[in-house]
Amino acid sequence: MAKKSIQDVDLTGQVVLCRVDFNVPIKDGVISDDTRIRASLPTIQYLANTKLLLCSHLGRPEGAPDPKYTLAPCAERLSELLGKPVRFVDDCVGPKVAAAVAEMQVGDVLLLENVRFYPGETAKDKDQMRAFAEQLAAPAQAFVDDAFGSAAKKQASVTGVTEFLSPCVQGFLMEKEVSMLSRVYNAPQEGFVVVLGGAKVADKIDVIKSLLPRCEKMLIGGAMAWAFFRAKGMEIGESLCSDESVQLATEILNSDAELLSKLLLPVDVHMQNVAGDHATAFAPADGILPGWDAQDIGPETTKLYADIVRQARTVFWNGPMGHFEQKPFDTGTLGIAQAMGECPGFNVVGGGDSVAAVTQMDLADKMDHVSTGGGASLEFLASGSLVGVDVLDDK
Ligand code: 3PG
Repeated sequence: MAKKSIQDVDLTGQVVLCRVDFNVPIKDGVISDDTRIRASLPTIQYLANTKLLLCSHLGRPEGAPDPKYTLAPCAERLSELLGKPVRFVDDCVGPKVAAAVAEMQVGDVLLLENVRFYPGETAKDKDQMRAFAEQLAAPAQAFVDDAFGSAAKKQASVTGVTEFLSPCVQGFLMEKEVSMLSRVYNAPQEGFVVVLGGAKVADKIDVIKSLLPRCEKMLIGGAMAWAFFRAKGMEIGESLCSDESVQLATEILNSDAELLSKLLLPVDVHMQNVAGDHATAFAPADGILPGWDAQDIGPETTKLYADIVRQARTVFWNGPMGHFEQKPFDTGTLGIAQAMGECPGFNVVGGGDSVAAVTQMDLADKMDHVSTGGGASLEFLASGSLVGVDVLDDK
């Protein structure tokens, strides 16, 4: 069901609560990647005819104020990007917020402190979450959700506040993300290639089950590939692998032959002798030695996968092919990033570390879409919906 967007409603003069995802990397008060803040600018600028209250989480504080997770640096950065002051309130509910809102003029932007400084934000107890959502919604009239990265979460500031505010509509970022990922989800099977990497099969199991029947080929890399090797009874030495991943890989390998024929595993690896002199070597997939640790897909696999990606009509990629933060184990991931950049088809990078690889190679502009949400994009492609979007007003 299509959802209403900020263009479908008139919010002029209203106090609008807008959920953004400013969960950005911050070290010693310095933001190292402001992509998510930039991504929210079109919505924030469009809402210049309102009194705009922005709220977000940052990190995973344990339901109490923790200076390490303050959103104050984001207010400063947003102010620079907007070219106008953004007031920061060091609370997200209660009298301080009410007083600040009372002073607001139309056109003002105010960023509230981290919603996860209150346990109600992520509470399992429904009443506790509802009570916090009511407090958060109290100063506002309408709700705009532009926090795609958080849209898979049932949390007070995402789903809870919609019970107390009307209208509840999506912002431009949310709309764009859902539209791009819907195009992937509904892609014609012919020429639809999915590339999945990363450490744990558990993070990808639902998306594997959802997309394997719908795609032409699924290319597996990263440490999750080693779990498939072990599930097939192959030696993986000291390679990163959990019992849970092996169990889930076994479940996938028990699929019928037609489905399995679409699932490609690495044919070679780049490994390191962690039990000895830390030498590195390439080996065929069935040649990993005891005491050695597979850290990346090998050159043959990189070439094989890159050729498939280049010819895809639709390609979705999530998760690195190896331990790409550490040279020389970055070549598999960078090879995929490059092939994505060269692919003339519709190409989408689904958040997380794969975005870092594409950015590192200066290829982000070559993609049709680079998602701001790793978990959210996987959840959407696994189920075709997101709780945070479902609760918004239907068109
Ligand atoms: C993310 O970075 O994936 C989102 O901001 C959600 O963060 P969370 O996993 O801590 O809820």
